[in-house]
Amino acid sequence: MSNQIASLATGQIGFLGAGSIVEAMLSGILKKGLTAADRIFVTNRTNTERLEQLTAAYGVNVSTDKQAVARASDILILAIKPKDASEALQALRGAVSPHQLIISVVAGVSTSQINEWLGVDCPIIRTMPNTSSAVGLSATGLCANPFVRPEQLAVATRLFEAIGTVHEVTEDELDIITGLSGSGPAYIYYLVEAMMGAGAAAGLDREMARQLTLQTVIGAAHMLLETRAEPALLRKQVTSPGGTTQAGLEVLESYQFQKAVTAAILRATERAREMGAQYR
Ligand SMILES: NC(=O)c1ccc[n+]([C@@H]2O[C@H](COP(=O)([O-])OP(=O)(O)OC[C@H]3O[C@@H](n4cnc5c(N)ncnc54)[C@H](OP(=O)(O)O)[C@@H]3O)[C@@H](O)[C@H]2O)c1
Repeated sequence: MSNQIASLATGQIGFLGAGSIVEAMLSGILKKGLTAADRIFVTNRTNTERLEQLTAAYGVNVSTDKQAVARASDILILAIKPKDASEALQALRGAVSPHQLIISVVAGVSTSQINEWLGVDCPIIRTMPNTSSAVGLSATGLCANPFVRPEQLAVATRLFEAIGTVHEVTEDELDIITGLSGSGPAYIYYLVEAMMGAGAAAGLDREMARQLTLQTVIGAAHMLLETRAEPALLRKQVTSPGGTTQAGLEVLESYQFQKAVTAAILRATERAREMGAQYR
């Protein structure tokens, strides 16, 4: 283990922001024993009740002094909304130095913009987790700016592996990740909503339709993972000519299902770029 990875256990981790993604990360990091709760400091804008709740649940330190938290952190994790980032980061000018590692989960804000707001060239790892981080199953993309050392990238990867899987990408690709896996849970929820609704409309009990749909989604995901087969192959294997699956798929094709999903992901990617452009 390198010194930098060892320091994950002894260095201080600060969180700027105390919302849902921070809670998911705290839970994962502490469950995996990556560091002790007393090495973690959390701060937010004004909600002291939320800070007390996090101390009670996880035993982490909390503070309303954002500058002090930033100054004391070996790793500072930015977990605020994009609209709050400019003000929040400019308020930290002077409290952050290039020996610290900055990790951002802030959607759409580039690493160069973060450096500009902080007024210093820091190593920054920008990430895009998704909301399944709340159950430890995020699909996270991350990218590093040129100041990041390999051992810092390894530390960040371990931190995000505590809430799911991690893929390293370029900063440009992070917008695609936003459209694909960042917004992805909502596409699946939409599909589940439609399948459940159809089951109920056809006469099944709604709760039973929900359970059957969920198990079908989980089973299909496991089949893809465990067999490593192409989805098109698995689809063909369950589609007998003239059978029920073929009849159903033909209807999906008539509504241009694949085209619709592709267009949705490309539009979400484009929207990520449009939103990011506001902060460049
Ligand atoms: N939730 C997810 O699964 C997820 C996934 C991918 C990316 N993200 C990204 O993660 C970021 C946070 O998302 P979230 O869902 O955790 O948001 P959230 O629940 O709304 O939390 C936002 C936090 O930011 C704090 N904050 C606002 N202004 C601040 C300031 N000036 N200084 C310090 N703290 C400040 C808020 O404090 P107060 O409560 O005191 O106002 C709050 O604790 C966003 O950029 C989001 O796009 C989240």
